[in-house]
Amino acid sequence: MGGWAIAVHGGAGVDPNLPPQRQEEAKQLLTRCLNLGISALRSNLPAIDVVELVVRELETDPLFNSGRGSALTEKGTVEMEASIMDGKGRRCGAVSGLTTVKNPISLARLVMDKSPHSYLAFSGAEDFARQQGVELVDNEYFITEENKGMLKLAKEANTILFDYRIPLVGYETCGAGVESPLHMNGLPISVYAPETVGCVVVDSQGICAAATSTGGLMNKMTGRIGDSPLIGAGTYACDVCGVSCTGEGEAIIRGTLAREVAAVMEYKGLGLQDAVDFVIKERLVSGSRERERHTQTDRHFLLS
Ligand code: GLY
Repeated sequence: MGGWAIAVHGGAGVDPNLPPQRQEEAKQLLTRCLNLGISALRSNLPAIDVVELVVRELETDPLFNSGRGSALTEKGTVEMEASIMDGKGRRCGAVSGLTTVKNPISLARLVMDKSPHSYLAFSGAEDFARQQGVELVDNEYFITEENKGMLKLAKEANTILFDYRIPLVGYETCGAGVESPLHMNGLPISVYAPETVGCVVVDSQGICAAATSTGGLMNKMTGRIGDSPLIGAGTYACDVCGVSCTGEGEAIIRGTLAREVAAVMEYKGLGLQDAVDFVIKERLVSGSRERERHTQTDRHFLLS
């Protein structure tokens, strides 16, 4: 038996430009989820159970972009996706296009454990959810007032919003020194697109696991699938590391970032930090179509 480790994310860190109250809420939620994971690890729960437990908690709270609080499609609906991977045996499960499943990460776990497949999507995934008896809710449950405002903003700016910061043209921003939220039709909106969540664990047996869950991008096309449910892109776990990504899914998919980090560690013999730096430099920056407009490419993912 060795030591254990855990990393939890609700996007790549807390944006210092967010209103202070929002930063505090994000820190508190992440701390609560981290402590939940730590207690589970101290009770010797396996890594795969811990990542599921922690991500479920993040999905249930509306603060981040997963489960309740998910980003909205161009039609104002929610289509959620998630994936989970157990480094032991490289078993995995993934789901996309969920509209009624309260905790997508647990359905991804069931795909891994109880189906003959690795990835189920849209109506097939919803059918499987019903067969498995997981908790289902109306799509309205996932939609927050804040996200309705964000969608309106995105449509008016004619853009799809990334996890992190809105490329606002002609709108007030919450940049340095601006603490008040933006108002739109009387609705206070922080200039903030909520972020994907994830958890990576190494348990006391040295087994790695990773889990990622998201609503995707605000104002995305219906049917759009991002990196989060794609094993090797948004999520990966093996015997050397676990990875959970956050950021612009299209760039992460092109770079197959999660698997690249593991591959660099396995085949190049690099340590974790060096592998991450290498992959960001070699695979992400060169793959980002938005790099001219967004300078946040170094914030694209977090892992353990
Ligand atoms: N990384 C989340 C997404 O692009 O959907």
